Amino acid sequence: MKFLALYASPHQSRSNSGYLLDIIIDEILKSNDHSVSKCDLTHMQIGACINCGVCRRPDRSGCFQKDDMVPIAEAIAEADYIFMASPLYWWNISAHLKCCIDRFYGIPFEHFKGKTIHLVMTGESRTDNEGYDIVKRSLSAVCNYIGAHFEYFFAGASVNTIPAWNNDALIAEAKAIGRNFNRF
Ligand SMILES: Cc1cc2nc3c(=O)[nH]c(=O)nc-3n(C[C@H](O)[C@H](O)[C@H](O)COP(=O)(O)O)c2cc1C
Repeated sequence: MKFLALYASPHQSRSNSGYLLDIIIDEILKSNDHSVSKCDLTHMQIGACINCGVCRRPDRSGCFQKDDMVPIAEAIAEADYIFMASPLYWWNISAHLKCCIDRFYGIPFEHFKGKTIHLVMTGESRTDNEGYDIVKRSLSAVCNYIGAHFEYFFAGASVNTIPAWNNDALIAEAKAIGRNFNRF
């Protein structure tokens, strides 16, 4: 199986959401013959969608912006599973992930068909904060629209108070997600 991991925190290598996603991926890779492509969106050049309509023309030549969405679109086409990691920003995903998802508009939706998308989020608020639910519902609707399946949502709370790497309960939860993934 091929996995694509999209990281969307400006904290980059000190990112809580990325840290938890890496635990899940490491656990998955332990017991199966999988490969993973990792893309840090915060290091990449991804222009904002300008809704010009070029990608919807009959010749289907795609987005006119030939930036780092080109390799990401190729990786999406090849991937069986897409993982995303983002901090919760103002009750939503980070700008980097939003920018990337907006550009999904320029990718043929067949490339998403039947694929599962998973999201790992971190925030300072408790997991009953409506921000996580807003994101979950929004991404479910996006996946539904593009023919993908939104599989699971994992939220890690209070990461400003206790960083994810010091939170044994959160680490155990992430490991369990990775282990359970291998059962499917
Ligand atoms: C601009 C901004 C907006 C934020 N908005 C929220 C929010 O709405 N809810 C929340 O719980 N935390 C919020 N936070 C805290 C971040 O979610 C938290 O620092 C982040 O999850 C850390 O994860 P990371 O290291 O992967 O970036 C915000 C932080 C910033 C910088």
